[in-house]
Formats: sequence, structure tokens, C-alpha cells
Amino acid sequence: MRWDKKKILEIDRRHIWHPFTQMKDYEDRDPPVIVKARGLMLETIEGKLLYDTISSWWTNIHGHLHPALNEALRRQLELLDHVNFSGFTHPYAVEVVERLRAFLPPSLTRFFFSDNGSTAVEVALKMAFQFWQNRGFEKKTRFVCLENAYHGDTIGAVSVGGVDLFFKLYKPLTFETFRAPSPYCYRCEEGPTFTLSATHKCQLTCLRGLEEILDRHAGEICAVIVEPRLQAAGGMLVYPAEYLKELRRLCDTHGVLLIFDEVATGFGRTGTMFALEQAGVVPDIICLAKGLTGGYLPLALTVATEEIYAAFYADYLEGKTFYHGHSFTANPLCCAVAAASLKLFAEERPLERSKPAREYFHRRLQELFSGEDYVGDIRYVGYVGAIELVAEREKKTPFPPEKRFGFQIYMRSLEEGLVLRPLGDVIYWFLPLCITEEDVEEILSRSQRVIAEIIGRLR
Ligand SMILES: Cc1ncc(COP(=O)(O)O)c(C=O)c1O
Repeated sequence: MRWDKKKILEIDRRHIWHPFTQMKDYEDRDPPVIVKARGLMLETIEGKLLYDTISSWWTNIHGHLHPALNEALRRQLELLDHVNFSGFTHPYAVEVVERLRAFLPPSLTRFFFSDNGSTAVEVALKMAFQFWQNRGFEKKTRFVCLENAYHGDTIGAVSVGGVDLFFKLYKPLTFETFRAPSPYCYRCEEGPTFTLSATHKCQLTCLRGLEEILDRHAGEICAVIVEPRLQAAGGMLVYPAEYLKELRRLCDTHGVLLIFDEVATGFGRTGTMFALEQAGVVPDIICLAKGLTGGYLPLALTVATEEIYAAFYADYLEGKTFYHGHSFTANPLCCAVAAASLKLFAEERPLERSKPAREYFHRRLQELFSGEDYVGDIRYVGYVGAIELVAEREKKTPFPPEKRFGFQIYMRSLEEGLVLRPLGDVIYWFLPLCITEEDVEEILSRSQRVIAEIIGRLR
């Protein structure tokens, strides 16, 4: 079927309901129609090129349509499209696990497949809960999460979410959790002028709230869940690795499991294969998705320790089975691409190759934005960078939300060949590992022009 732009937009407008989108915002504007992609670039139906500055919702790792990943998918299409993963196995899942084991801490030994970040988190929550139930700790039923946390949009993930804008309405549907303060360095009295990579000396005062919860309620708590080093959807909040070390110690002394949600931070995005490496800390469970297939296809993993697995391993009649699974668990097409992506990590070492670009990115963020009075904070880790826009720098006063500065910047960025999709008034870049210094320069200088223009116009 051949489509023209007008027809696509007509049908889209009439029938399609887009995610995380107030559809009325598109009453009199059209979304770009993307028909192709290559490397860092998206191409619209009119042939206009856009820098994919957010890696297609934080998924893309090696650039779009990488030849090795394309080839892996093509090859897999000759072999096996799909088969149920309960009672069967296949070499494609086994290859993913074997390749991934080389990058993960050795104590994470048991791999449970699912198909997106939210399901990886649901699995982790149910696993942590049932771990304690299977061992006879019936009172351990609750979780600790952080303010500004985002772990997905299914109800379990929403229950451990801490972004009120997204989740408040659904509270009556969710289970009760303990919510501890967020390590939001910019809004912390002890924080530095700019958070930058959050490697400043810090008393970790923000952990005291969490410690109090554990002191009082450890007997009811099965696990703490956090996004290590970077609370992403909560505003790209970069926080010290030391926090994670101390958190691990607290969980150990209180007999509580620790879950790392590396759905956004995994696969090199923070400059190391996994963010946990920056703290030298190993969780009991890790959640992976997004970049697992290099950003091609939906696939997720929840990886647990042997101790957790052992609590489920029993005679059938003991009732300790993990009753969880999804139709597309370990889909072979997804696994083939994931294995190819992991092979690229092993053979081409993209993290080493693009280290100069990563460092250039950090330096240019500071050079371009630290002198702007509308920039309250600058933060970065690996390939992720963000600036927080404020009306008054001294007092850290936000712009009035109804002015929607972030949204206006986003709309203008599309015209300028960029995708500056904001989180409120936080403008961020979530770059793929194939980025070069030239790309960084072009992206940041265009971004600066767009941001300054909109601020100048709306202020
Ligand atoms: C840290 C984190 N966890 C979980 C999710 C949910 O992943 P998905 O959108 O694949 O369900 C996201 C998505 O942005 C995320 O950033």
C-alpha cells in the first residue's frame, strides 16, 4: 500500500492515540512522519533529517540500522520466528545469556526474560516478594522506592513510581509503598552549584530518610528499588555513586533485597556497561530492557542471584513456582538482535571508542550553558546530559509550568532538525554510543540556539 503524507496524518489524527501525549496539543499541528533512519538520523516523509538526540526513547545504542544487527535479524528470519519459552528453550536465548554474563557481576546468575522495561520491573517486584514468602517471611510484603523514581507504567511499576505528575491519579489502584527522598543534588542544600557528574563530596543526607524507614519497618519490607546513578524520567537527576554503596550496606544490615532498575542506564548509557560498575555495588536483582537489543526490538531481562533462585526451587507440590510469563518471552528475533548487539560491545568496544566524544559532550555542556542565567543546573553522566531551566537562578525558581517552556523548545527543535523532547523544563540529550565529537558540536550548538530563542521569546 502506498501512503501519502496527507492520508497518514488524517488517519493518525482520526484513530491513533499516542503514548505520553495530550492529543489536543496536536489539534492544529502535525507530528513528524518518520519513514527512515540511519545512524544518528531520523528521516521524515519530506526527506528532512532530524538528529535522534534522545535515542528513540532511550533505546538506540549503536545507531539506527547497524549492518551487524540488520544481518542478525535477517539470518534469524530463516530459522525461527517464535516459540513459547515455557518448557522449551532455544540457542538464541542461551547466546544472549552467555554473552551478557561476561558483562554482569558473576553473582547475578539467573536470567528471566520478558518484553519491556515495565515487565522487567513487575517480574523483579513479584520475585522479591515471593522470595520472602517462599522462605516463610510472610510479613515482608512492602517496597521502598524513591521520590522522582520512574520504573514504568504498569500498575506494579506505578506503585513504586515517584513522579506525581504521571502517577498521582492512579494511587487508588496501586499498592502501598514507602517513599524515601530523592537524591536530587540540585535541590539539596549541600549540593554544588552545578551537579555536573555528581562526583562532589557529599554527606548523603538524602539517605537518612530511607535509613529511618528501614530502621522502623525492615520486618515488613522485601526490597528497595532504585535507578542507579541516574533518575531518568524524574528529570535526569544524576547522583553520587557513593549513595549506592551506602544503600547496599543499609539493605544488607536490615535484611532487605536491593533491586537496580537499569532499564534506562544499562548498555553503556552512563559511560560504563552498567551504572552499578561506577559504585562497585552488586544488587540482588537487576532489570534490563531498552538497549538490550541495541534499541531494535522489545526484549527485557530480570536477572537474580542464585540465592533468590534457590528459594523458588522445590518439589512442585510445595507451591514455590514462579507463576509469571508473557507470550513473547525470549522471542528469538529479539534474542538474535540482542546477541548481535552484545557481540558488538565485546568486539568493537564502543565505550572506549567514543570516550573522547563523551568527554567533549560534558565539556561543551558546561561551556555553552553555565553562563546562561536561565540555566539552573547542568548534569551529565556518560551519554546523558541535561540542563534544568529556571526563571531565577539565585533562588532556583522554576518557570511557571503553564508557560510550557520545555514543550515550546521541543516543537521548535523539530524545525531545527533535533528532538529535544523535554521532561517538564528539563532539556536533555540521551545520545547513542556511536556519537562523534562533530555530532556533539552540531547537536549542542543547534540546541543552544533553539533554547535561547524560545526563552527570549517567552520570558
Ligand atoms: C528506569 C526505567 N525503568 C522502566 C522503564 C519502563 O520501560 P518500558 O517503557 O520499556 O516499559 C523505563 C522507561 O523509560 C525506565 O526509564
